[in-house]
Amino acid sequence: MATCSPYIVIGDDEKGYDLDLFCIPKHYVDDLEKVYIPHGLIMDRTERLARDIMKSMGEHHIVALCVLKGGYKFFADLLDYIKALNRNSDKSIPMTVDFIRLKSYCNDESTGEIKVIGGDDLSTLTGKDIIDTGKTMKTLLSLLKQYNPKMVKVASLLVKRTPRSVGYRPDFVGFEVPDKFVVGYALDYNEYFRDLNHICVISETGKQKYKA
Ligand code: HPA
Ligand code: MG
Repeated sequence: MATCSPYIVIGDDEKGYDLDLFCIPKHYVDDLEKVYIPHGLIMDRTERLARDIMKSMGEHHIVALCVLKGGYKFFADLLDYIKALNRNSDKSIPMTVDFIRLKSYCNDESTGEIKVIGGDDLSTLTGKDIIDTGKTMKTLLSLLKQYNPKMVKVASLLVKRTPRSVGYRPDFVGFEVPDKFVVGYALDYNEYFRDLNHICVISETGKQKYKA
């Protein structure tokens, strides 16, 4: 497997930022512990990922595949940065988009069962929100193989440092994070917290309040 480009490592001792230092929707103030990755930092890192991805693509057309629902913010922002590069540089690569929906989590635990919904033009790939154990990603990659793609590249905003990992590494990574359940920027806990800009650590109150 090709080696992954460098990424930002968030250490186990990272305290994050007090919620009061940022703007948080009022309905979530009791449900979060800390702001872990502020929205601005996500955007700045995504801008650089767009450049790295474009550089590695050569002259290939891209089918950008978004893994819903958690990947939708990262996907949209990543594509905006790629589009800006296409507008403003000598080299530009044509792109089409597609969407697939995967579901494997209930509360903060994986159910071990992966549901796949949608996707009609599966030939190349980008854009997942988080790679936790890597099991979901491995399943998706074997599914994509059936379509004989020329090349498949995976970009994930987050990868988790967890002993449960199957060893899978995406081609492009935004941040490596500790083994904590994070929400926001489209990442959910039972469908809540997608409407939060920053990536945050959920509180015990939040876990209880939105338990399935
Ligand atoms: N947050 C949200 N969804 C997830 C996570 C997480 O930390 N890990 C796997 N799916
Ligand atoms: Mg989820």
